[in-house]
Amino acid sequence: MSEQAPTLTVAPVAPGEATAGRKVFVKTYGCQMNVYDSDRMTDTLARDGYQTTDVLEEADLVLLNTCHIREKAAEKVYSELGRLRDMKKARAKDGRALTIGVTGCVAQAEGAEILRRAPAVDLVVGPQTYHRLPAMLKRAKSGERVVETEYAIEDKFEHLPAPDRARTRARGVTAFLTVQEGCDKFCTFCVVPYTRGAEVSRPVAQIVAEAERLVAAGVREITLLGQNVNAWHGAGPDGGEWGLGNLLRRLSQIEGLARLRYTTSHPRDMDESLIAAHRDLPKLMPYLHLPVQTGSDRILKAMNRRHTAAEYIALIERIRAVQPDLAISGDFIVGFPGETDEDFEDTLRLVETVGYAQAFSFKYSIRPGTPGAQMDGHVAEAVKAERLERLQDLLFRQQRAFAAGCIGRGIDLLLEKPGRMPGQLVGRSPWLQPVNIDAKGSEIGDIIRVRITDAGPNSLFAEATGA
Ligand code: 5AD
Ligand code: SF4
Repeated sequence: MSEQAPTLTVAPVAPGEATAGRKVFVKTYGCQMNVYDSDRMTDTLARDGYQTTDVLEEADLVLLNTCHIREKAAEKVYSELGRLRDMKKARAKDGRALTIGVTGCVAQAEGAEILRRAPAVDLVVGPQTYHRLPAMLKRAKSGERVVETEYAIEDKFEHLPAPDRARTRARGVTAFLTVQEGCDKFCTFCVVPYTRGAEVSRPVAQIVAEAERLVAAGVREITLLGQNVNAWHGAGPDGGEWGLGNLLRRLSQIEGLARLRYTTSHPRDMDESLIAAHRDLPKLMPYLHLPVQTGSDRILKAMNRRHTAAEYIALIERIRAVQPDLAISGDFIVGFPGETDEDFEDTLRLVETVGYAQAFSFKYSIRPGTPGAQMDGHVAEAVKAERLERLQDLLFRQQRAFAAGCIGRGIDLLLEKPGRMPGQLVGRSPWLQPVNIDAKGSEIGDIIRVRITDAGPNSLFAEATGA
């Protein structure tokens, strides 16, 4: 999954929800799954009388929903905890309590270490135990410092409340839906198998029920989430074993649902049925986030990706053969241990060959406990920085070229939110680009026919053309 800028999860207040009482403030770091998890946590807490606030000072409970994917992510959390400690101390003088919780992947990885390093923290909650949050809060209130990071034997999704209608409506017309969690791939750079645990797929019926609820509450586009979303599998209602392709076929039958996406995929799990879904399902958007990490076969092997650069390129060609309009997005790591200039040149060559519409690229960051951390040949920071700059330069040029290629095209635009100017709305193109438009007479949630008129560095401009 791709990383997001830290966001505040402002769960809206449903009509009739108590406005007095306790308030929770959630700060979300990391990937889309954390965004989804933050919403599920605020839904759980709402049943317990917690209203969500985006004003830190109002909060009785602060949750930092953290990410552990790279070094800086955890460091940001510790510095935020320093600020919260000061706030808690200042509050104590006025006789007002502040409960501080750390959730997410740093909580899972660090566990009780967080309580040692940050004495103001009251609870540490790993991603597999969010459904127990209300019970943990009760314990924290009675003075206990709570750490729950084991993998619960019960299914958390059975216990987390389904997204509530009013809250979903207020969250907007696009929604995330976790269908798969965890990872068994063990890429040698990655903490995810340790923080999110083994691969688990949610059952078909649970997913369909959640999707139907979202659509009934006004959601038009659903993005299926998983650390390895295309490894999702389950027993279909027909008794057969289903993969993600069949799940997408089933979901696309939901009336009122206009668009489907999924992220993040592993190249080894792109099976024929999923590729065919890109040909057969008009609701499945022509966008595929398919990380490759590096274009060097040597480094792919050291990363335990279990495919070659040529296999990745051949795969992209097969998918493009059935869906020529596909926008490809990827993730890249530069400076993995042992990466030479020649290996890096291979990455640039792969990028030139594939042609990305969008991409995320990072300097390799040592993650304690992963095999990569033990490897020889760590690359100097300055070399990593220089390679990253060259790669990002190329990727950004490709992104701009892709955007420029959209000018003049007629597309369907899903209107998502108000724009900066009065009368302006911002929507998403099928390729996930933000598109600005003067959309008088149209509303958020509408899908309108537009023509792309211009391309900025990070968004497009369009005019309505009618049906
Ligand atoms: N260092 C740098 N980037 C990493 N990613 C995962 N682990 C690391 C690491 N140790 C990147 C990968 C992955 C994305 C979510 O984050 O590119 O696809
Ligand atoms: Fe998401 Fe991975 Fe970060 Fe956890 S460590 S929040 S799964 S990106």
